[in-house]
Amino acid sequence: MEPMVDSQLPNWALRSLISANDLDATSARRILDTAETFFEVSRRPIRKVPALRGKTLLNVFFEASTRTRTSFELAGKRLSMDVVNLSGSSSSTTKGETLLDTIKTLEAMQPDLVVIRHAASGAAHYVAKRCRAGVINAGDGTHEHPTQALLDAFTIRRHKRDLAGLKVAICGDILHSRVARSNALLLGKLGARVHFAGPRTLMPLAADQLGAVVHDRIEPALEGADVVMMLRIQRERLSGVFLPTLREYSRTFGLNEKRLALAKRDAIVLHPGPMNRGVEISPEVADGPQSVILDQVEAGVAVRMAVLWLLAGGDSPAVG
Ligand code: CP
Repeated sequence: MEPMVDSQLPNWALRSLISANDLDATSARRILDTAETFFEVSRRPIRKVPALRGKTLLNVFFEASTRTRTSFELAGKRLSMDVVNLSGSSSSTTKGETLLDTIKTLEAMQPDLVVIRHAASGAAHYVAKRCRAGVINAGDGTHEHPTQALLDAFTIRRHKRDLAGLKVAICGDILHSRVARSNALLLGKLGARVHFAGPRTLMPLAADQLGAVVHDRIEPALEGADVVMMLRIQRERLSGVFLPTLREYSRTFGLNEKRLALAKRDAIVLHPGPMNRGVEISPEVADGPQSVILDQVEAGVAVRMAVLWLLAGGDSPAVG
């Protein structure tokens, strides 16, 4: 099975995905619809289709990752791509090679797509400007993580049918969260009403410019919410000046069963992971009936298959 190429649809034009702002509502829905057709592939006994046979994917991760890296690798392999993984700690950057030299070196091996995660905001954009291959941003510093937002949208859509009009509360360390930024941009385009909640020290000054309603307490964001997305406290990016203590943070901003009761009875709970259990989310909520956190992980493979397929030209009659 491969997605049916609908002759009514225009050929997919985007060759890189750096920001959720690269997508309009139509192209975002097209990725989500394509992901629906790939979703069942991962539940088959033989989890592979020949859709991108002969295409090459380079996964280049300069920052730690469990979900994103693994799901891009599986997505590529399930589409029959040749997939090569490179991590920063095992690359020649540890010997002083620059990012540009690393990318030029990898490009000489003729990849079709490069997935990159890097600690520097703007790194994916920098690479895309200098690379012939398509580039997918798998998280750049505190800037963006567009495929996370797509898989979150996919998960919400599966549980709520449509995003239009939903109240989505995104709570926690907004300042350092590329996930919050990409979600605010994408979910807003798809018609959701995004609310941010977090301590003032962890809220970017221009948070409202992302189209979100901003709260400095979690309760008003949770009230009547259809979707609650908790964010990890990014200990590696905190220098100790943002919060008094994690215990205090958990007491005022942590999602527990009592606070979740402020949301709609059928609200779903998302977390991009990795979680700090007992800090931003209690184990009872993380493992409770409203949690769809593992659905997000499953969605990640299908959504990344869709992104790879479209960006590699899979909808072109010449491919497949
Ligand atoms: N959500 C996410 O980006 O997780 P990883 O850091 O494990 O890839």
